[in-house]
Amino acid sequence: MFRESIAGALACDSRNVREPTRNEYPSRNRPLNLDVSVFTVTLPKLTYPMARTHTVTVHDRQTGRIYTVEVPEDRYILQAAESQGVELPFACRNGACTTCAVRLLEGEVEQPEAMGLSPDLRERGYALLCVSYPRSNIQAETQDEDEVYELQFGRYFGKGKVRRGLPLDED
Ligand code: FES
Repeated sequence: MFRESIAGALACDSRNVREPTRNEYPSRNRPLNLDVSVFTVTLPKLTYPMARTHTVTVHDRQTGRIYTVEVPEDRYILQAAESQGVELPFACRNGACTTCAVRLLEGEVEQPEAMGLSPDLRERGYALLCVSYPRSNIQAETQDEDEVYELQFGRYFGKGKVRRGLPLDED
């Protein structure tokens, strides 16, 4: 067992571990005489950079409430809000349905996964909180019901008469 410990210590970092002297190797008939300093290994101090945090204020226009949460740059705003007990509208959580859309009144987000939001609407200051990372302090307000959906798809639907039934059904 001690041999394995010595071998393990030697394997750690040869710069900080000296070779045990002949007397330090264990023997059946000789009491073990180990210098514990042999096992002292100095590891470099590990530091993990903390992500910057921004203050995100969301005016939920459906409930009239205003929420303020602290969101690190490497977390989605919706996720961080939920972890702080704030409930905001959402459905898919994948940047597709636009239920979580907000209008940015101030500040910037990064939202590379917001596939449900056209480049034009991003330019106009809309963001999907489920896939948005804050890049500054933010002031935002929730959209009107289906506002983003209508802006994005409304011009493609609803033109002409809507008829019940499958497209191939004959009258
Ligand atoms: S919850 Fe569906 S796009 Fe955000």
